[in-house]
Amino acid sequence: RKPLIPYEEIGAEKLSELIDLFYAKVAVHPDLYPIFPDDLTETARRQKQFQTQYLGGPNLYTEEHGHPMMKARHMPFHITPVRAEAWLSCMADAMDEVGFEGNLREMYFKRLVLTANHMVNRNEEGS
Ligand code: HEM
Repeated sequence: RKPLIPYEEIGAEKLSELIDLFYAKVAVHPDLYPIFPDDLTETARRQKQFQTQYLGGPNLYTEEHGHPMMKARHMPFHITPVRAEAWLSCMADAMDEVGFEGNLREMYFKRLVLTANHMVNRNEEGS
């Protein structure tokens, strides 16, 4: 078997489905929607680019937007531990719906947990 590149295992179509489902959940999550734009089309487009390279695919995000610097790009937003949990719960639900399972899902999700926790930049008290 060839070495596993998660992006190749998942495929562009499934990844796109996952991200669309994810943002449909973000859009209605009480802890999340207030800090996101009303129209999530562009956010989803950028997240698809980012996840593509995060999973070992082509560097679509960097090619268009430069170095990801995700923590810095999130600084304007109040990312509390509660919001990180909310973000991850939307992602877990989206993964369930798209039918991700097994080792790939476990590894992908574990990595997102680390990244989400790294993104936390405020405590619950805010500002
Ligand atoms: C953008 C929130 C975690 C990747 C954003 C935006 C918000 C946000 C408010 C701006 C949306 C916009 O204006 O279009 C959060 C919260 C998180 C979180 C509350 C909870 C921990 C993550 C994680 C990743 C990620 C774990 C990657 C694995 C991105 C990307 C963008 C983004 C790629 C688009 C950046 C751009 O504008 O170029 N996020 N985020 N975020 N987030 Fe997060």
